[in-house]
Amino acid sequence: MGTHRSPRRSVSVLFVFAVAGFWLAASTGVPASADSVRHATSVCEAQELKALAADDPHLTIEIPPEYDKPFPTLAACRSHAAAWDPAAEGPQQPIPFSHKHHAGDWGIDCLYCHTGTDRSRAAGVPSTEVCMGCHEQFPAEYDELEGIQILKQYWAEQKSIPWTQIHRLPEYVKFQHQAHVRVGFECQTCHGPVQDLDKLYMTPDTRFWQYGLPTRKLEMGWCVLCHRDNGASQDCLTCHY
Ligand code: HEC
Ligand code: HEC
Ligand code: HEC
Ligand code: HEC
Ligand code: HEC
Repeated sequence: MGTHRSPRRSVSVLFVFAVAGFWLAASTGVPASADSVRHATSVCEAQELKALAADDPHLTIEIPPEYDKPFPTLAACRSHAAAWDPAAEGPQQPIPFSHKHHAGDWGIDCLYCHTGTDRSRAAGVPSTEVCMGCHEQFPAEYDELEGIQILKQYWAEQKSIPWTQIHRLPEYVKFQHQAHVRVGFECQTCHGPVQDLDKLYMTPDTRFWQYGLPTRKLEMGWCVLCHRDNGASQDCLTCHY
């Protein structure tokens, strides 16, 4: 890469500095001493401030007693925010549910929630009841998280949660989870590092470039190349009715 900068680029860089400078002047400006105390207005904010203060001894924080609580934990606050980040890839779900937090950090087994995956065609998503099996036992302070409030609302109304489906094949294609899971494929082979993602999306395929054919997941080439690699059937009627 060259070091030459186009004039337009340097103008925009200058603009960014100007805005940043203005922002700094405005926020740290006039009555410096009184403003340097940071106040929490929720338990999650209090958790963030405590974490900041632990790193920076000069920071003065003020946490009202009603927000000075152990729950929700900092980890739960953060994954809740990350799972609902509109800038992150993937559809906005009705509840900010984090796979990283549940399956990764807490190690909850995929099959605990996607119960049918090794026995049926569909993996399915867990019922509201499965969620509440755990969340009913949580301290009431977790209700500060909007996602928990929404979950409890669906539960009170005895409704299922309208999750947006991410992987969806056309009607004319046959796919069976159990056939693939039984021969030993991990979920991650097809779905990517789910346990590392707060917000799910269809991760790109990185496995079949050796043929020089870029394939996208759920396209026919993706299925057929893996079948070819593994000696599985490439007969049209295996996958089509
Ligand atoms: C096996 C127990 C278990 C089940 C089942 C479960 N959760 Fe959780 N959930 C947890 C734990 C543990 C946490 C994290 C608590 C912490 O770290 O403070 C959590 C955290 C959350 C949070 C906070 C943000 C996040 O994702 O970390 C939301 C929202 C949530 N769960 C929703 C759900 C929904 C919706 C379901 C059902 C689809 C569900 N949970 C099923 C145990 C469970
Ligand atoms: C605590 C329950 C829970 C656990 C544990 C869990 N999931 Fe999920 N999973 C869900 C929920 C709820 C959804 C729908 C919301 C979403 O997409 O984030 C979902 C969606 C998915 C989807 C997307 C489905 C679609 O719409 O196409 C995949 C793929 C998936 N999970 C794989 C996994 C894998 C792999 C694991 C284990 C590493 C796992 N899940 C563990 C609850 C769970
Ligand atoms: C061989 C690739 C492959 C493997 C392995 C695999 N999946 Fe899938 N998964 C798919 C495809 C393809 C779809 C879309 C299915 C459809 O639309 O009929 C899908 C859809 C899903 C869905 C959406 C809901 C549904 O039932 O269709 C979930 C949830 C899911 N998978 C979870 C899992 C979990 C959990 C595992 C591991 C136990 C797993 N998958 C293993 C390919 C795979
Ligand atoms: C990661 C590799 C892999 C991918 C990706 C994959 N398959 Fe398969 N599939 C296999 C293997 C291996 C078998 C043979 C299983 C056996 O021997 O029982 C198989 C078997 C099948 C079967 C036969 C099941 C039965 O009744 O025995 C169908 C149908 C099928 N796959 C459809 C699909 C479709 C549709 C896709 C793409 C959406 C797909 N597969 C993607 C590896 C894969
Ligand atoms: C391993 C599974 C598999 C096998 C084997 C397979 N297909 Fe497909 N096929 C698919 C999937 C998955 C799609 C859907 C692709 C998509 O939505 O992009 C598809 C799509 C198609 C389409 C529609 C394409 C379009 O753009 O609308 C045709 C036509 C088709 N297949 C024909 C065949 C024929 C003919 C054979 C045998 C030579 C065959 N398929 C074998 C999985 C398979």
